[in-house]
Amino acid sequence: MLLDTYGRVATDLRVSLTDRCNLRCTYCMPEEGLQWLAKPELLTDDEVVRLVRIAVTLLGVEEVRFTGGEPLLRPGLVGIVERCAALDPRPQLSLTTNGIGLERTADALREAGLDRVNVSLDTLDAGTFARMTRRKRHGDVLRGLAAARAAGLAPVKVNAVLMPGLNEDEAPDLLAWAIERNYELRFIEQMPLDAQHGWRREGMVTAGDILASLRTRFSLTPEGADSRGSAPAERWLVDGGPHRVGVIASVTRPFCRACDRTRLTADGQVRTCLFAREESDLRGALRSGAADEEIAELWRTAMRGKKAGSGLDDPSFLQPDRPMSSIGG
Ligand code: GTP
Ligand code: 5AD
Ligand code: SF4
Repeated sequence: MLLDTYGRVATDLRVSLTDRCNLRCTYCMPEEGLQWLAKPELLTDDEVVRLVRIAVTLLGVEEVRFTGGEPLLRPGLVGIVERCAALDPRPQLSLTTNGIGLERTADALREAGLDRVNVSLDTLDAGTFARMTRRKRHGDVLRGLAAARAAGLAPVKVNAVLMPGLNEDEAPDLLAWAIERNYELRFIEQMPLDAQHGWRREGMVTAGDILASLRTRFSLTPEGADSRGSAPAERWLVDGGPHRVGVIASVTRPFCRACDRTRLTADGQVRTCLFAREESDLRGALRSGAADEEIAELWRTAMRGKKAGSGLDDPSFLQPDRPMSSIGG
């Protein structure tokens, strides 16, 4: 079990499979990209599967989500999913992706055992998409989403970040669009995790702003505290249901008290939180021949260092050294 000193148990593992990405979202990374991890630094496919196996069989992890960077850029993704789906007990398997390439891989991922996908899409307008991501790939994302739904990766969730002056007025249009296609839409507050350190609280579209904007067109009723569990999204029924919309308000309404997450970076470091400043090196232990139980113990020890919260509201808050794309969103 991965128990921290605040009584929380981590049953949800997020594994970053690469820090690379084929988009350049302005709230994430600069135009020129970042200094990517070198191949030997990345966990191999075998190492990823071994760590997932340890997490599932020795540490009580029940859900595994693959992230990036952009996880579809990882050549071995389908094989990794397949091997993780063969574990006993079988974890729930999901993927967070920007959707580029999903059109080609959705069926194979489904067959390999992937249960569901969350796809990032901030705008319905191809021009706004190009401004926000610095790449003209809007059509690829829309086709990827449709392929995921057709492949039976349900529910398909869509993540949208609203940015002032770019897409902040799009919330109602995005919701109408998502409802029509049966995607579950969640809006995410922008977090201080960009490589450029450009985040400013004053310049952020808040959960309050998003809800007010949605209410100009829809009636929203809270789904109730019980339904949230440990999920970061608070959900509302739209016009009485059955469709829902979620808001992930990590800044203005943090959910740290219910957090059930542990994370693994693409270079094999355990992080207890998106905002943690410490990491524990599992790759070194793996490569120096540690036994499964020794690795499990390192992981348990790491989780005992998990802080109560993100620290975002502390005057002394310091952004983590790694950007989101390398931590694994
Ligand atoms: P579901 O299981 O479908 O609810 O997935 P999810 O919402 O946990 O995952 P997803 O990868 O789609 O992440 C959505 C947003 O939540 C992203 O912006 C993540 O960075 C953010 N998020 C995920 N985990 C954490 C976390 O531990 N803390 C905070 N503050 N945000 C998180
Ligand atoms: N703040 C909030 N969300 C972010 N994402 C990437 N960077 C940030 C940030 N700084 C989102 C992506 C994706 C999800 C994994 O996190 O758009 O939907
Ligand atoms: Fe790529 Fe995701 Fe960062 Fe956008 S937010 S540049 S899709 S890693």
